[in-house]
Amino acid sequence: MFDLDQTIKDRHSTRKFLSQPVPQALLDEALALAQHAPSNSNIQPWRLMFAQGDRRDRLQETLLNQAKQQPPYSFGLPESFQHYRQELGAQVYGAMGIARDDKVNRQLALLRNYEFFGAPVVGIVCMHEDLGVADALSVGMYLQTLVLCLTARGIGTCVEVSLAAYPEIIRSELNIPPELLIICGLAVGYSDPDFPANSLHISREAVEKNVLFLDN
Ligand SMILES: Cc1cc2nc3c(=O)[nH]c(=O)nc-3n(C[C@H](O)[C@H](O)[C@H](O)COP(=O)(O)O)c2cc1C
Repeated sequence: MFDLDQTIKDRHSTRKFLSQPVPQALLDEALALAQHAPSNSNIQPWRLMFAQGDRRDRLQETLLNQAKQQPPYSFGLPESFQHYRQELGAQVYGAMGIARDDKVNRQLALLRNYEFFGAPVVGIVCMHEDLGVADALSVGMYLQTLVLCLTARGIGTCVEVSLAAYPEIIRSELNIPPELLIICGLAVGYSDPDFPANSLHISREAVEKNVLFLDN
């Protein structure tokens, strides 16, 4: 058994992985536990395809080529949220020694998303296209459960919505049926301890900013 509080604190996004393979038994354990996640009407809407080995390498090659030719657009954010993205960029790129105005290295760092940051395993998280927000929430609850189970086993992760910029490539490389919406990727592997950005603890708001208790 693992300490849940500590696991929640330990989880963070890993942006450089070792090539060391992830034991299938640990993946299977985490997946079996995550299957206990709750979902609206218990429909368990999460669908995952994992690519590893040659399939992973082919996916990387095709995605990278595409991202180099046609750089991904940044998913828009309402103005009141944009400063979070800037602060995150300052922390992550800062730890990587990339200056704010260094467009070339920022672009190269962005492209690393399409190498899954070196992770030997990449999951693609999908859901049926006819489902709605509550079901996407169920997929999110599943994904967090899975990520925590992997963290508890010493395995690093990075959720990657950036992969959803090229759904047709992923669909074709991994034979994903047309009715499945591609939500995001999940890079899975052992964290490279020598990469400074892997030791970041990205700041959070105080609880009061996000949560209200209302009396009378
Ligand atoms: C839905 C979702 C999509 C994300 N997409 C990306 C991504 O494409 N690339 C990336 O480097 N990080 C991505 N992240 C990681 C977030 O940037 C990260 O969770 C956040 O900055 C907090 O940092 P932490 O995970 O280290 O606590 C994503 C996280 C979530 C939950």
